[in-house]
Amino acid sequence: VRAGLIGCGSVSRWYLDYLRGSDVVELAAAADRDPELARATGLPVVSVEELLADGSVPLVLNLTPAAAHAEVTRAALEAGKHVWTEKPVAMTLAEAQELAALAEGRGLKIAAASDTFLGAALQKARELVDAGEIGEIVGASASFTTAGSEAWHPNPDHLFAAGPIYDEGVYFLTALVSLLGPLRSISAASRTVRPTRTIATGPRAGETFEAAVPTHWVSLLDFAAGPLATMTMSFEVLGTTSPALELYGTTGTLRLPFPGYYDGTLLLGRRHDGEWQTIDPGGELGLVRGLGVEDLVRAVEERREPRASAELALHGLDAMETIGRAARSGRREELRTTAARPARLAQTSRS
Ligand SMILES: NC(=O)c1ccc[n+]([C@@H]2O[C@H](COP(=O)([O-])OP(=O)(O)OC[C@H]3O[C@@H](n4cnc5c(N)ncnc54)[C@H](O)[C@@H]3O)[C@@H](O)[C@H]2O)c1
Repeated sequence: VRAGLIGCGSVSRWYLDYLRGSDVVELAAAADRDPELARATGLPVVSVEELLADGSVPLVLNLTPAAAHAEVTRAALEAGKHVWTEKPVAMTLAEAQELAALAEGRGLKIAAASDTFLGAALQKARELVDAGEIGEIVGASASFTTAGSEAWHPNPDHLFAAGPIYDEGVYFLTALVSLLGPLRSISAASRTVRPTRTIATGPRAGETFEAAVPTHWVSLLDFAAGPLATMTMSFEVLGTTSPALELYGTTGTLRLPFPGYYDGTLLLGRRHDGEWQTIDPGGELGLVRGLGVEDLVRAVEERREPRASAELALHGLDAMETIGRAARSGRREELRTTAARPARLAQTSRS
């Protein structure tokens, strides 16, 4: 299926590296507000309008920044195209619900990042959970902690405008829903300790900016099937030994790699003596994206929902909004949507 790229910035490389070798997606054209960036992809360069008017391209990859997602996705749907979009699907759940309704009304599909749960690591974890390898799931802990990207990123302000929940929490929430099923309620609290940050590298080195949303978040996630999880997402932590993600079961603990990538090693622990069994799920994709795009193309052919479905993306966005609502109200807040666990992939990533 011929696909056109809209947005040719930093993440587009990850898509290009993987999808150039795809046997289901043919990258046909690239559009960006900055034509130089579109040219750097090596694909035929077109304007957004030309791409949307091209009847030979039924699929658009929306790789623009978060604030542009809804506008670009709406225009693509109105032009009759299926859409793959980077996360988040829109800035608010209400806007995302409008887009999902528009797609449904036109018989089109939206699928969205995060799709890292389709990678070998999280698919292996799902297989182990479904096979009862760690018994009944009691709970989980999720942790993404960094001192902040201003030390290495030349333009870190947009990451502090999104904050740790929208920038990184989305990977953990989507992974947990794919493993444990939908969320039902959330409690949360947040704070900012160092609001003023100084860019350390690049042409803007020495420039300061203010963190627009809180930088340290602690959430309690209550899943409909019963598991309870804690989630710490922070731009305030200087080094930690906390694992990124652990599932606690009645017969063992499963330690997962950072869910922002497709691959990584799993550890299975059955006792408190620190002995862990290493599980190598295979897959060596590295820093790429595209499994969700391929699954979307297959879903359209097979007349089924894509695994990284609009329903799943909306539930993830709902969870992020609910975390914010709970932190503001100081109360446990109910989610407004639900989502079925996506079906497992029979075959994991091409390496
Ligand atoms: N950079 C990463 O490492 C990374 C990783 C995972 C996910 N993402 C996600 O990918 C998305 C893009 O991030 P990025 O880092 O590539 O951003 P970026 O700023 O590097 O690139 C975005 C590009 O989109 C173009 N653009 C903006 N609005 C447009 C419009 N209306 N029409 C056409 N082009 C437009 C910009 O000119 C820019 O080149 C974000 O949603 C981000 O959350 C990024």
